[in-house]
Amino acid sequence: MLKVSESIKELVPYPPGKPKEELQRELGIEKSFKLASNESPLPPSPRAISAMMEALGELNRYPDGSCYYLKERLAEVLGVAPGNLVLVNGSNELIQLLAAILLAPGDEVVMSEPTFLMYSIAVRGQSGVPVKVPQNANRHDLEGLLAALSERTRAVFIDNPLNPTGQIISGDELSGFVARLPSDVLLLLDEAYRDFVEREDFISGLELFRDHPNVVVGRTFSKAYGLAGLRVAYGVASEEMISYLDRVRQPFNVNTLAQKAALAALGDQEYLENTLSLISREKGRLYSEIKGLGLDYIPSETNFFLIDLKREAEPVFDALLYKGVIVRSMKSYGLPDYIRITVGTEEENSSFIAALAEVLEAG
Ligand SMILES: Cc1ncc(COP(=O)(O)O)c(C=O)c1O
Repeated sequence: MLKVSESIKELVPYPPGKPKEELQRELGIEKSFKLASNESPLPPSPRAISAMMEALGELNRYPDGSCYYLKERLAEVLGVAPGNLVLVNGSNELIQLLAAILLAPGDEVVMSEPTFLMYSIAVRGQSGVPVKVPQNANRHDLEGLLAALSERTRAVFIDNPLNPTGQIISGDELSGFVARLPSDVLLLLDEAYRDFVEREDFISGLELFRDHPNVVVGRTFSKAYGLAGLRVAYGVASEEMISYLDRVRQPFNVNTLAQKAALAALGDQEYLENTLSLISREKGRLYSEIKGLGLDYIPSETNFFLIDLKREAEPVFDALLYKGVIVRSMKSYGLPDYIRITVGTEEENSSFIAALAEVLEAG
């Protein structure tokens, strides 16, 4: 009998948003769309697509393991040194690498409840202990997170903005928190949705990591840049921290197409602005449609938000599936009356509202 680690046996796999293909296979539904995984509803930038097309003939070779050109460009755009960057196979990889670097069995990582589910999976995967602090009014409870620190705490994982509620920590709150966090406790600031933030009192961890070498910032090309299928993201941190991450990552963790596409996408500001304005406009429209249906929502600084159905959400989630609309059930996040939707295209959002109205009317 294999001696598999007890913490792995207890793990529940990450439940991804249902893929469209699954709906087709399981329910025979041909026409469906997905508003479940906080992806961009728009195809990638045409520049990213042609950069990938050009690179197809090079795929007999391994990728550039240092991501040299992408790193140089990112460093320029972000105003950091290339040595402050690590490119990763999606932010998920960054989260796992941090857990691998920091944790011995029994070590703790403090996080909110609910938050992005991968945090606790990554921690348990290293036989670590996720210490969960309930949110306060749908936001990170910063005092609570500090109060949960112990001798065994190695890190605090924070998504800013917060998934699934879409709330941010203000700049003042964040600076105050970082100042009070012991310097031997790492702080991951996961800024996957940073591009969507409109509030002006937000500050990025990029403004903090130089004075606080325990801060690591995570960013991704999966959301506003529309490259979720490629798996490319990055971490910004002190050179020392980057050197540890480089020791444990796979040498070719970011594939050639992902590197080329991300580099090209960085040069397409117009694409990014177009995406951000679509999301902002459509989010506003969805808010008023949701109100019109007599439901509540939690206003969000991201491309997704929570809808309070004021009843058990699972039957509504199932009925929407039968209509070809894939949203996210929040049961696994401990929010049984809520669904989370990702803002889609104008057409998708209108179809979603029409389907939701029909489902609610049917009872
Ligand atoms: C807070 C947060 N971080 C990270 C990710 C994953 O990003 P990536 O596609 O870069 O792995 C998600 C995805 O849903 C997320 O919600």
